[in-house]
Amino acid sequence: MIGSKYGDKIEMTSQQLVETGLVTHFERGVFSSGQWLSYFEGNKNSKAAISLPPQIALEDQARLPIIRSLQRFQIGEKGEGLHLKKYAGTTNDPVYQQCVDLFIQEENVHAEILGRMLAALDAKPISFHWSNSAFIGLRRLLGLKTEIFILLIAEIVGKCFYKTCADHLSNRVMKDTFTAIVMDEIFHLEFNCTFMRKQMNNYSPVARKLIYWCWYALFFMVCMAFIVDHRAALKALDVAPSEFWKDCSGTFDHAAVKALL
Ligand SMILES: [Fe+2]
Ligand SMILES: [Fe+2]
Repeated sequence: MIGSKYGDKIEMTSQQLVETGLVTHFERGVFSSGQWLSYFEGNKNSKAAISLPPQIALEDQARLPIIRSLQRFQIGEKGEGLHLKKYAGTTNDPVYQQCVDLFIQEENVHAEILGRMLAALDAKPISFHWSNSAFIGLRRLLGLKTEIFILLIAEIVGKCFYKTCADHLSNRVMKDTFTAIVMDEIFHLEFNCTFMRKQMNNYSPVARKLIYWCWYALFFMVCMAFIVDHRAALKALDVAPSEFWKDCSGTFDHAAVKALL
């Protein structure tokens, strides 16, 4: 199992992970497609497959709300990322395009793991949820930068929810599995934030501040909608909405400093 090996590392930022020597691919705050390609290829090749038992038993009051939340995440993780790939093609950086392909593959692996987890919980994946369609619609509104800013909101909320599951579920296999997913998500945040930092280099401080407030307003609305929609799972995990919001907003603040401010 990967998760238990990294269990004490999920509070760290990716830069701190670099400093521990766990990962050696990155220079501080600098986006390099080559370094990220090396990271994604290394992550793909070195990772042990996550094995889940055919059956996972959860307490009755937690099982249904957790299933409902995982079904929504599973559908979000399994997208093909066609628009993101198309936009990545406009950067004229074929190495970045390869990174995006591998990034999407990692998300699809998460979908596959969540699909197996749902099966072990005796539940099926769903094929439609309004929140997934809303995200896809928003992401396609404008160009690559809008796509990634909105993608980052999903990454932030997702990473915080998976971490909440890793911290609060009592089932060992589920804890370890979510810990392993959180590790990937921390690097997804770093990958997309540092890429955005490079994209925003030519924007004036005033323009960045304006973009920040628009981004924050959207993040706030999405996070509140998420908390309402997933309130039963948060309650089953014994996490107050205010506690989850605090985690998400703290992660957003870090992301905003990295990507924009
Ligand atoms: Fe993911
Ligand atoms: Fe991700």
